[in-house]
Amino acid sequence: MDLGLKNKVALVTGASRGLGFATAHQLLLEGVRVVINSRSMEKLEKAADKLIKETGGEVLAVDGDMADPAVPEKLITKTIEKFGGLDLLLTNAGGPPSGAFETFDDAAWEKAFHLVFLSHVRLIRAALPALRKSDAASVLTVTSISTKQPITNLILSNSLRLGTVGLTKSLALELGHEHIRFNSILPGWTVTERVTDLLGTRAQVNHTTIEEEERKQAAESPLGRMATPEEFAKAAVFLLSPAASYLTGVMLPVDGGMYKATL
Ligand SMILES: NC(=O)c1ccc[n+]([C@@H]2O[C@H](COP(=O)([O-])OP(=O)(O)OC[C@H]3O[C@@H](n4cnc5c(N)ncnc54)[C@H](OP(=O)(O)O)[C@@H]3O)[C@@H](O)[C@H]2O)c1
Repeated sequence: MDLGLKNKVALVTGASRGLGFATAHQLLLEGVRVVINSRSMEKLEKAADKLIKETGGEVLAVDGDMADPAVPEKLITKTIEKFGGLDLLLTNAGGPPSGAFETFDDAAWEKAFHLVFLSHVRLIRAALPALRKSDAASVLTVTSISTKQPITNLILSNSLRLGTVGLTKSLALELGHEHIRFNSILPGWTVTERVTDLLGTRAQVNHTTIEEEERKQAAESPLGRMATPEEFAKAAVFLLSPAASYLTGVMLPVDGGMYKATL
């Protein structure tokens, strides 16, 4: 199947490693020109070099903290300066800290709100003028399976990501008539450095090992394992692509069947 992505332009935030990096990699393999972002220029440059070496594609690295209100405009300006437009947007950043309800004060909730929710709002707002000019405009917000089923010790993610799901669905309804598609991808447990860190914390709390925690978590999925970042990225690239032209307002779990409810 031709995904119809050749020569399109994508902006992928939170992309020096993990899910964002894997998605940038798959987009480049499809002939997309890709802007990658994260907070550290050093990490981004290494990531860009690797992406170019492995795919032969065109990559621009732009640093900036997605929790900073000024960053989205900068990312869009640089994207347009370099590639002349924007077709595909993956809104993503690092996750909030783990912890239970009583470990977080108002300041911690507010900080997480900026990262987990407002970053999506601001980036989509900044991108809309460029997306309106595209013939393949598509936005994919990265949220979490925690929006379906809370994850132990992740109260910030469990609570705030529901806002991003509501935002995504609302935008699909509000802007469908302008032919801009909005979907969200809900990763389950995918083997990235963040997950290794989270399982490390669990191992400390439970007096076990990371390997033991990995085994327990993998057993939660009918497939008996966690996902690879590449498996996440392939689903993300399909949803972003013109091949998914009649899919909007979809909240897609990529969780190996871990979420057990019928609806
Ligand atoms: N992996 C999973 O199983 C899973 C499951 C559910 C949800 N998620 C969510 O999906 C997102 C990506 O997860 P991941 O596993 O790929 O995480 P990760 O391995 O920690 O990678 C996060 C990426 O985002 C960048 N980043 C972090 N904070 C940023 C910020 N404020 N502004 C811009 N870039 C930032 C990081 O680079 P710098 O350090 O250079 O900024 C890095 O490139 C997270 O929000 C996570 O909570 C992941």
